[in-house]
Amino acid sequence: MATLLEAPKGLEGVVVAETAIGDVRGEEGFFHYRGHDATVLAREHTLEDVWHLVLLGHLPDAPERDRFAARVAEARRLLPAELLAALPGVAAVNGDDRMAALRTAWSMAAVALGCRPWIDLAGPERIDQAVWLAAAGPVLAAGVHRDGVADELADAPAGTAAAYLRLVTGDPPSPVAARALERYLVLTIDHGLNASTFAARTVASTGADLGAVVVAGLCALSGPLHGGAPSRALEMLEAIGTADRAEQWVRSAIARGERIMGFGHRVYRTEDPRATLLRETARELGGSRVELAMHVEEVVLGVLRELKPDRVLDVNVEYHAALVLDAVGLPRALFTPTFALSRAIGWTAHALEQMADGRIIRPSSRYVGPSPSRR
Ligand code: COA
Repeated sequence: MATLLEAPKGLEGVVVAETAIGDVRGEEGFFHYRGHDATVLAREHTLEDVWHLVLLGHLPDAPERDRFAARVAEARRLLPAELLAALPGVAAVNGDDRMAALRTAWSMAAVALGCRPWIDLAGPERIDQAVWLAAAGPVLAAGVHRDGVADELADAPAGTAAAYLRLVTGDPPSPVAARALERYLVLTIDHGLNASTFAARTVASTGADLGAVVVAGLCALSGPLHGGAPSRALEMLEAIGTADRAEQWVRSAIARGERIMGFGHRVYRTEDPRATLLRETARELGGSRVELAMHVEEVVLGVLRELKPDRVLDVNVEYHAALVLDAVGLPRALFTPTFALSRAIGWTAHALEQMADGRIIRPSSRYVGPSPSRR
């Protein structure tokens, strides 16, 4: 029998894949996409530029930029009318759970877009399907949120972030809001081998179609410990209500054994660099919650330092993301789906990389149940 290697719970510190897509340096508070500081990319580039970088390996030159932006905008319009017409029904069945609705809708879209097991596809077809699927995301998320998206699609702005805001709110977005959302989307494309990227790579390793890859990523992302924290961070601010109640509220929550949403990270032992840029963006956008949020952040950090001295717990991406997503006019139910829109770019890029590896991911487990009876 082959020797079994023991891995720690949560696979912390275990390397299970090689990637050239990006890296997170938790001790330094730095992350990058293909060697480019991701926070600089978010400040200086469009989402489509960075999408090109992550998926195709380099930042586009001017003609490539125009071609890729047009390709993405066209891909957004590939979904058939019957699918768009079905989205309100998908939403109705799923009630208020927009992640569940999006999961169904993305699965339907993969079939409608002709996604097939990637082992049956040539390289260029795989890239086409990766672009189509990720470009469909904003339409699907808006379409499970409100009626009328099918009719408005033709008039939506060319850029992904602006188009998404237009489709979700029904109004042309302000350039400031669209740019703030675009920053958020760039910052959340990729982030090491987090749970959803691992899930996506595992499914890709089986030869399944890219739609299955995206849905697997989405399922992992739906958990509050991964992508579901921002709406909970806003709920916390609402529950706290006023600055004078913050410390008491935070102490009681920790005494009950609860986790403060938007704080702590598996990899970072510094402030999450995404939080730094999103805090700045949230301040620029302003809004009624910003002052309270800044105060609560200070309080939480102080209480965590006191009560959890053995662990460096700092603010993570989700806390300030909540403020930004709220200020640009996105409803809370769409916070995690919005995270999925950018991460789908990362999942599909990782899937293409995993395909080149060609080996199915198949770890082992240790049986700890009752001894088997043999007859
Ligand atoms: N609030 C309070 N305590 C926290 C905490 C938080 N947000 N995050 C971690 N801790 C505490 C744990 O209770 C534990 O304390 P203990 O040793 O006294 O039991 C210690 O820190 C280590 O926690 P652990 O679960 O080992 O950390 P992890 O690396 O596995 O978890 C997260 C990382 C992100 C899952 C975790 O920090 C968390 O649940 N954060 C809140 C949810 C969130 O914001 N998610 C978005 C992530 S980007």
